[in-house]
Amino acid sequence: MSEASQFEPKIVAYVCNWCTYLGADLAGTTRLEYPANVRIIRLPCTGRIDFNLLIKAFEIGADAVLVSGCHPGDCHYTAGNYHARRRWILFRELLDSLGFDLRRIHFTWISAAEGRKWQEAVTRITEETRKLGPYRELYQKNGFRRPNAPPPPKPPAPAKNNAAAQEQQLRETCARLLSEGTVQVVIGYGVGGPVFVRRAEDAAKLVWNADCQANLTTYLKRKEIKRLGKAAVVVKGCDERGLVILEKESQIDRQTLRVIGMACDGMGQPKCDTCTVHQPRFADEIMGQAGAAPSEATRAGALDALMQLSPAERMSFWAHEFERCVKCYACRQVCPLCYCERCIADKNRPVTIDTSATPKGNFAWHITRAFHLAGRCVGCGECTRACPAGIPLGLLNLSLARAAEKHFGYQAGMDPKAEPLIGTYALTDKEEFIR
Ligand code: FES
Repeated sequence: MSEASQFEPKIVAYVCNWCTYLGADLAGTTRLEYPANVRIIRLPCTGRIDFNLLIKAFEIGADAVLVSGCHPGDCHYTAGNYHARRRWILFRELLDSLGFDLRRIHFTWISAAEGRKWQEAVTRITEETRKLGPYRELYQKNGFRRPNAPPPPKPPAPAKNNAAAQEQQLRETCARLLSEGTVQVVIGYGVGGPVFVRRAEDAAKLVWNADCQANLTTYLKRKEIKRLGKAAVVVKGCDERGLVILEKESQIDRQTLRVIGMACDGMGQPKCDTCTVHQPRFADEIMGQAGAAPSEATRAGALDALMQLSPAERMSFWAHEFERCVKCYACRQVCPLCYCERCIADKNRPVTIDTSATPKGNFAWHITRAFHLAGRCVGCGECTRACPAGIPLGLLNLSLARAAEKHFGYQAGMDPKAEPLIGTYALTDKEEFIR
């Protein structure tokens, strides 16, 4: 007998307790027959189905995954399925850019009265998966890799003509803020790294040049910095977008924070090629005037090229890239929007993400990191800059940012009045992928 005819797909179904599970039960009690390939895992609500569970199912050998819950309007927790739907829209896009085979990921709405629909869905998914065969491409390096080795870091861009004037203005402003007592500390750039200036006479330690690449807003979340008192922070246009998110998420008190915006024309880093905001807009003090931001073609060129590849080639691309990851978590540490007291990657009860630097563990980590930033990442590119292995992590963030623009017309950190993308929902959210 050929392998194809022997193949029995393994399908993991995550179902909501109140509708789909009862629908499956009804199928059983009414003696409806369907293939025995599905393993049902019951959860309270689709809103409770963590995206990591989908990945986990594939990791442990599933050939397809089904997620199913109550129809819109029927959720027993009022809106769990609406929230889930919005997350799935974005999560599918992330998985697509990573090269997952979306034909193996299914979503349905099945009510407690739809035993027949459950029977039909399981039968259809089993047949489709049987035709696809075992999921062998998962995390496989099928030959395709980035044509060139990661480019060496670009040399810093030459200082702009007006950089000296901006620097002078910056020092004067910070000296004034400190001497007036408006702030107790200025978080800015110094020679060789960030400086925390606490006395007006030390304002000369502040610099503005092509080395000022870091996003300093990441320091605002640190307890030891909070203890220093009212702060002023020096930001570029991209960094400033992060403040909008941090304020929305109650991580900063914008009323007590003084923001000093520095116009830039890119700092000569690859990350600057994808940045669209070079001019700060909400800062209390703005120094300089930036030129035009990169075009959309420049911004998304690398992502567009990646999406031209087949899913298996994309998977191979990322498998090669993640192979270099040593789980140093520099991408997390440098991100201004990663501030959980205890990161899911550090939890060991249960172990959601394999902590070793294996293909499984690395994929799980980078999927988790990227998706935690869905609708939040402001494209400051610090993850890419900080990665010692040169992994283009910003591509994953960009794929989610583009999905947010495409499906919801949303750009993180651009509009202080906009509701957070994840955490809200609309009755009109598209669901053509849910059957
Ligand atoms: Fe079924 Fe929320 S209770 S989807």
